[in-house]
Amino acid sequence: MSENTKHTFVVGGTSGLGFAVAEAAHARGEEVTIAGRGAARAAEIASAIGPDVRGLHLDLEDMASVSAAFADGPPIDHLVITPIHRVMTSVKDFNIAEASRLAQIKLTGYVATVSAALPRLKPTSSIVLFGGLAKANPYIGSTMISIVNGGIVGMTRTMAVELSPIRVNSISPGLVPDSPSWERAIKHGANPVVEAMVARTPSRRLPTTQDVVHAVLFLLDNRAVNGIDLEIDGGIQWV
Ligand SMILES: NC(=O)c1ccc[n+]([C@@H]2O[C@H](COP(=O)([O-])OP(=O)(O)OC[C@H]3O[C@@H](n4cnc5c(N)ncnc54)[C@H](OP(=O)(O)O)[C@@H]3O)[C@@H](O)[C@H]2O)c1
Repeated sequence: MSENTKHTFVVGGTSGLGFAVAEAAHARGEEVTIAGRGAARAAEIASAIGPDVRGLHLDLEDMASVSAAFADGPPIDHLVITPIHRVMTSVKDFNIAEASRLAQIKLTGYVATVSAALPRLKPTSSIVLFGGLAKANPYIGSTMISIVNGGIVGMTRTMAVELSPIRVNSISPGLVPDSPSWERAIKHGANPVVEAMVARTPSRRLPTTQDVVHAVLFLLDNRAVNGIDLEIDGGIQWV
């Protein structure tokens, strides 16, 4: 790798949108590290992207593993954080244990990850945090997903101020039908949900994984963009 090669670190790069971002960063010649739960699994998935891609164990429910994942290694130009723990729970029937896990992963965990990465970030580095459109468009059972995704917007703005001049942005995708989690859901009968979303979307198409990747690379690269939450949703109308 040359001195000018950028290094992209994707927490949650072992699956779905994070994996696609890691693949895209690798395809454009960047040094890539991915992290997820399980050293052997992360290493195997990393090698599927490329022989030089690092795969590390990192569990956002285990803060020691977060510190360990960032303890050594080259400076990080781009940090992307995607993990989610999918929890359906409502205020009326609240699952406290699962709700707490999601808050730990997506709120405390994201902040702890950035904090652990800081010694390896440069003034020119940029960060992208993953939220989601449930932040402002709840459905029954989305209580915790809406809360944490709303929290990502505040986190982004706070970090953009606190970590200046490092840039921090977030992305809020709408439903991404070709992501593995939705491909599984569609196989189990969720197609009417997808069709209802398309009907509400003026562009008549929902975001694809590659649309999300394109947007993440834009946020990582564009040096004028800071502290924003980019909605990728085809202009969906909720009323
Ligand atoms: N897909 C969509 O339609 C959609 C829509 C809106 C928003 N989003 C947001 O986009 C992000 C990515 O979604 P996705 O569909 O790509 O999800 P995904 O395929 O389920 O991937 C989730 C990633 O999170 C990692 N992860 C989960 N728990 C973890 C933990 N405790 N510690 C470390 N890593 C953990 C998983 O890695 P391991 O299993 O290897 O640990 C995996 O790499 C999420 O934040 C989601 O809310 C997605």
